[in-house]
Amino acid sequence: MSKPRGLRIAGNWKMNQGVAETRAFFESLSKIQLPSGKSFAPGVTSSLYVPALSLSAAKDACAKAPAPWNGIAIGVQNAHWEKSGAYTGEISGPMLLEAGVKTVLIGHSERRQFFGETSETAFKRTVSLLQQGFEVMLCVGETRAQREAGQTESCLREQLAPVTFGGSTGPLMGFWNGRLLIAYEPVWAIGTGLTATPSQANDAHAFIRKLLKDQVGPDAAAKTPILYGGSVTPKNVAELMAQPEIDGALVGGASLKPDSFSQLF
Ligand code: 13P
Repeated sequence: MSKPRGLRIAGNWKMNQGVAETRAFFESLSKIQLPSGKSFAPGVTSSLYVPALSLSAAKDACAKAPAPWNGIAIGVQNAHWEKSGAYTGEISGPMLLEAGVKTVLIGHSERRQFFGETSETAFKRTVSLLQQGFEVMLCVGETRAQREAGQTESCLREQLAPVTFGGSTGPLMGFWNGRLLIAYEPVWAIGTGLTATPSQANDAHAFIRKLLKDQVGPDAAAKTPILYGGSVTPKNVAELMAQPEIDGALVGGASLKPDSFSQLF
């Protein structure tokens, strides 16, 4: 299946898998061969967002794994917008660069729900990390109550407002080149086994792409990959990825086990 923006299969381990489990994951993954052999299918790339403490183990084990697994980009699940300072519990871009990280997840709904992340702070992280050279995967998505109240589009518009602000000459000018990815993760579908239907997901993606087109420009809209996340499994991944507006998957639970992770490709 050929996709204009390629296809990204990404895993978010959340607060799972310490050093020993991370090593075991890559050891088992190394023994698995994809039907496509030693490479991902054409256009497919992969990233895994691991706990910060497992980062070094994941990078080492990944580098030692056979192809295609050694091509997975290892990233983290959050980073601060300042480069250093009195921000207890946070991790900075320069620390991540030193550790060899190139990709960072930002604004995940669990950070919004449990740790006070807002669209504004997610944006501050996004712009700072893009300026420092990272790839950023910015997560957005409505709650169940918002969907039921018909507020899916207004929620997405609000979450993306800081990002699209100023249009093509806004703070993200120059970064609409594919280095900013958007993950659409409806909160009601995360970890619940309730997946958005392929057409529900495709409609939300089409809305996001139209928003980018109207507010930033056709080039930004054409270059920005939009991934779907929320109970993606080996069973439903193909049907979701076949949707024209879906450029990849951000997978939680099914990315934790080598078997199910490998079956996403
Ligand atoms: P699940 O795949 O476990 O539903 O999690 C999705 C998610 O939140 C990925 O970031």
